[in-house]
Amino acid sequence: MTSQPASLAGLDIRAEIERLRKERKAVILAHYYQSPEIQDLADFVGDSLELSRKAAATDAEVIAFCGVKFMAETAKILSPQKIVVLPDMEAGCSLEDSCPPEKFRAFRARHPDHIALTYINCSTEVKALSDIIVTSSSAETILAQIPPEQKIIFGPDRHLGGYLARKFNRPMLLWPGVCIVHEAFSETELLKLKAQHPGAPVAAHPECPPAIIDHADYVGSTSGILNFAKDFPGDTLIVATEPHIIHQMEKTLPDKHFIGAPGADGNCNCNICPYMALNTLEKLYVALRDLQPRIEIEEGLRLAAKKSLDRMLEMAGGTVGKGDLGGAVMLSRQMLGSNR
Ligand code: 13P
Ligand code: SF4
Repeated sequence: MTSQPASLAGLDIRAEIERLRKERKAVILAHYYQSPEIQDLADFVGDSLELSRKAAATDAEVIAFCGVKFMAETAKILSPQKIVVLPDMEAGCSLEDSCPPEKFRAFRARHPDHIALTYINCSTEVKALSDIIVTSSSAETILAQIPPEQKIIFGPDRHLGGYLARKFNRPMLLWPGVCIVHEAFSETELLKLKAQHPGAPVAAHPECPPAIIDHADYVGSTSGILNFAKDFPGDTLIVATEPHIIHQMEKTLPDKHFIGAPGADGNCNCNICPYMALNTLEKLYVALRDLQPRIEIEEGLRLAAKKSLDRMLEMAGGTVGKGDLGGAVMLSRQMLGSNR
């Protein structure tokens, strides 16, 4: 735990968060990559899609979002009447940073016959320039609903895009962004670890590069990896994603053994997301106390971004073209009325 700032000395931070949570009628949402102490006091812990759904459905007056900025912005886009606070406004994402809206707009303009299928790890501006948003848990369901002849730009994660393109045998134009955390796993170290634990499966997030994915027995979102951890028959699992997710596995599956995949120095600590790590209990307390730092989004921009997010929520839920991958759902550029 980080040392407590002098101004908060003597405060029982957990008790204060508890008091403020009730006083403010707040809900605390946390991603699986948050520290165990934040995960343990959150009202709900989930992956990007689950957190978006919770944010859209909550009747709380305040959403204290313990995750990164694009996630808190998604909550605000979907629940504009709520106050959304993020404990540290610097909690960004390397994928978002890789995709400046003006460059993305120009890229789209060079490919007018493509739709933009965009990973949720991007800015609100890029969401507003996109046709459909996906998360790692919804990408396959959504891609399967897009007619095969429709050309697609996928951004900003080239590894998730490449994984989908290979799995669906469907070429897509990929934006060249990467997650610095998943990029840091080492194939050499992973192979050494596998040799030390023969028979232990590897579960990997699709943000990992192909050299890691090639050794994975399961590839999926954070919640998908958690489900795999419950279901696999053995007792040891190698986990190739941000290691804080292991906290949930150890809580729910105390008899199994989970090992974080290593980075190049053989030490999995280099795979801690530096952005997620900016949120602390102390900053969460201050955010609930002051209702700051607060997410604010200009209304025109919010509505433009909401279109592509609404499509995700609709298509991920299977309400569009349920179970019919044969082209009954014609999500062509004309039908999408492109967001550019
Ligand atoms: P999930 O949607 O799988 O939780 O992924 C979010 C993320 O940022 C992974 O790096
Ligand atoms: Fe972004 Fe990677 Fe951190 Fe996820 S783990 S928030 S993709 S930098």
